[in-house]
Amino acid sequence: MGSGEEGRNGRESGMSIHAEKAVVDIKDGQLLKKMLAYAVPHWKMITLCIGLAFLIVMSDLARPYLMKIAIDDHINGLHKPMYAAEAGKADRLQPYGKPVIIGDTAYVRIGAAEASEPAAIPDAGLRKAQIVEIGGAQFLTEGWPDTKAKPEVRQIGGATELAVDGQTYPAKELDEDTVSKFRERDTGGLLTLGLFFLITVVGGAMLNYVQTNLLQYTGQHIIYRIRSQLFEHLSRMSASFFDRNPVGRLVVRVTQDTETLNQLYSQVIVNLVKDIIVLFGILVIMMQMSLKLTALMIVVIPLLIGMTIWYRIVVREAQRTVRLLLSRLNSFLAENLSGIRITQLFIREERQLEQFRQLNGEHFKAGLRGVIINSIFQPAVGFLGNLAIALLIWYGGGSVLDGTITFGIVYAFTHYVRQFFNPLMSLAEKYNQIQTAMVGAERIFELLDEKPSIVDAEVTKAMPKQVRGEIEFEHVWFAYNEGEWVLRDVSFKIEPGQTIAFVGATGAGKSSIISLINRFYDIQKGTIRLDGIDIRDIPLEQLRRAVSVVQQDVFLFNGDIASNIRLNESGITDEQVREAARMVHMESFIRKQPLGFATPLGERGVNLSLGQRQLLSFARAIVFRPQILILDEATSNIDTETELVVQDALRTISKDRTTLIVAHRLSTIQHADQIIVMHKGKVRETGNHYQLLAQKGYYYKLFELQYKERRQMPDAR
Ligand SMILES: Nc1ncnc2c1ncn2[C@@H]1O[C@H](COP(=O)(O)OP(=O)(O)OP(=O)(O)O)[C@@H](O)[C@H]1O
Ligand SMILES: [Mg+2]
Repeated sequence: MGSGEEGRNGRESGMSIHAEKAVVDIKDGQLLKKMLAYAVPHWKMITLCIGLAFLIVMSDLARPYLMKIAIDDHINGLHKPMYAAEAGKADRLQPYGKPVIIGDTAYVRIGAAEASEPAAIPDAGLRKAQIVEIGGAQFLTEGWPDTKAKPEVRQIGGATELAVDGQTYPAKELDEDTVSKFRERDTGGLLTLGLFFLITVVGGAMLNYVQTNLLQYTGQHIIYRIRSQLFEHLSRMSASFFDRNPVGRLVVRVTQDTETLNQLYSQVIVNLVKDIIVLFGILVIMMQMSLKLTALMIVVIPLLIGMTIWYRIVVREAQRTVRLLLSRLNSFLAENLSGIRITQLFIREERQLEQFRQLNGEHFKAGLRGVIINSIFQPAVGFLGNLAIALLIWYGGGSVLDGTITFGIVYAFTHYVRQFFNPLMSLAEKYNQIQTAMVGAERIFELLDEKPSIVDAEVTKAMPKQVRGEIEFEHVWFAYNEGEWVLRDVSFKIEPGQTIAFVGATGAGKSSIISLINRFYDIQKGTIRLDGIDIRDIPLEQLRRAVSVVQQDVFLFNGDIASNIRLNESGITDEQVREAARMVHMESFIRKQPLGFATPLGERGVNLSLGQRQLLSFARAIVFRPQILILDEATSNIDTETELVVQDALRTISKDRTTLIVAHRLSTIQHADQIIVMHKGKVRETGNHYQLLAQKGYYYKLFELQYKERRQMPDAR
């Protein structure tokens, strides 16, 4: 490996650790639009979920209200003001509810509003009545005495009356049976309310279940699509893209960033709507019950909002740091685990460990900071909640005593106040989640927006079915990075079926020439032609089908031997796979494996030697029957004996196809029809072995050098 390559990779991986972007402006409309575009196909599902959210909120908010009814109308209902009428005229009481008939009189309880403005009495000939409790006894009174002013019982003659504020009301002590009759409707009512309560609990839970699952389904579905899209996109990207983007970072894009987006779709959007419904719902119910108490509660709200904003600012910073550090950790891990061999080889474990510790430590600290902030904020909000309750006890309790507010209302308020705090808190949380999702989304869309730099031309020229394999470089200039020319004015022509060799020092540009032929990179100046057609005009797929490359480092995929040879191309038969293996003299080795061709290879093929891997990649190349075969240092890992075998195989394989060989060992390429000697990106000499030796130039020197070496180490060959 040239030191240049090492340096480049070093720079890149350094970047991956520090180049992660942290913030996106949440008002970025373009981005939001793109994000929502993915949700659009699911709009029916999302609308349904919002509808469900509405019902769930209703069931949540109904419960304290049911309690209020239970308390005010039933538990404390006995002492409410009533209208009374003769039993025969009981139907006059119907508008106020179903009357209770005791003896020859019908009674009905009336609401607070009616009681304060008893308009009906004069016209309908109704009477006022009320049950008043004094000293544990219940008195049925004519009229509505002011019970807060503590009425007294007086016996005058045979009659009983209640005296209060200088007024007297005829009264009659009730026996227990009669009281129970007045109570009858309450027992039934409480039962009904209890059932209602149960229904809201069970129904709410079921709706919640359905909603959560629908949302997760939608979210996962969207993420499934984005992930597939990302992978498809990545697999189309050109070599230069992967030079710039380390694998670790791309892995984070596809796994972690998509996950944050999933949260947006499955939790944030609908719950945001839910929270807002809850807030408004509670406000409306509270105002309907008591404007005064609502006003009192609203005093606490600005405090709460202030605290939420403070929390949001502080915690967002902390969470953002945590996430950033987490993706750095991820990239670091992905890169270092795939390079673990190198790390161990060069005894860099300590250094890497130290780097990892540092990153891990930063992550730990940031996480802890978040925890501390939360541990302050949560109790603080809890405190505000309790402050609100304290206000309720003091003011609401007082109002109950002077009868302006019922106990049921105060009770319901304590619940609503608590329920009110949750959505406010979660709205703050949502803001952070949206932020995270936006960061993830921006990275994802940035990736998706990056066009592959090498694509088919607008108008392509199809190759003839039978490619001849003529290759021509005409004044080719090429640089990986602008201005740093790697190839300078390279010209040569290869006739169909010829075997061509490239030799030259490390970094001379041999591999670069090869990556140009199947358009891993595009050239800046000049033309490369295949069978007379500019390769930029040939459809990429046809071009790459015509060219097979065997490289020095062989990548093995997870899977068995056969699938590693045919690379999941179903058009290749088992027989063809076997034949290819036979050609590279690998068949007998494979047959000895426990499962033959079905023997699995571990990730990166730990159970094959380097030479065996290279043979396998040979088989991989020829099974596709390319018209052009390129071997880049492909025989350097094969021992001399096997090399002879492979040479032999090569001769067979290369007979009717154009073959390009890059080799440092000159013995490998002596039979080539043409040898191209590269030097610093230029073609220095061309000719066959004998012509080049006769020239006594660079090739001659190289040959001398290797020949001498060999004579000095006779055992090695
Ligand atoms: N992906 C890349 N991005 C940027 N520069 C590159 C890249 N690959 C190679 N280079 C540079 O291009 C030059 C030629 O490299 P190339 O790999 O073609 O040499 P080579 O002749 O194949 O060498 P070797 O015999 O060591 O394989 C070198 O200076 C190298 O640093
Ligand atoms: Mg090379």
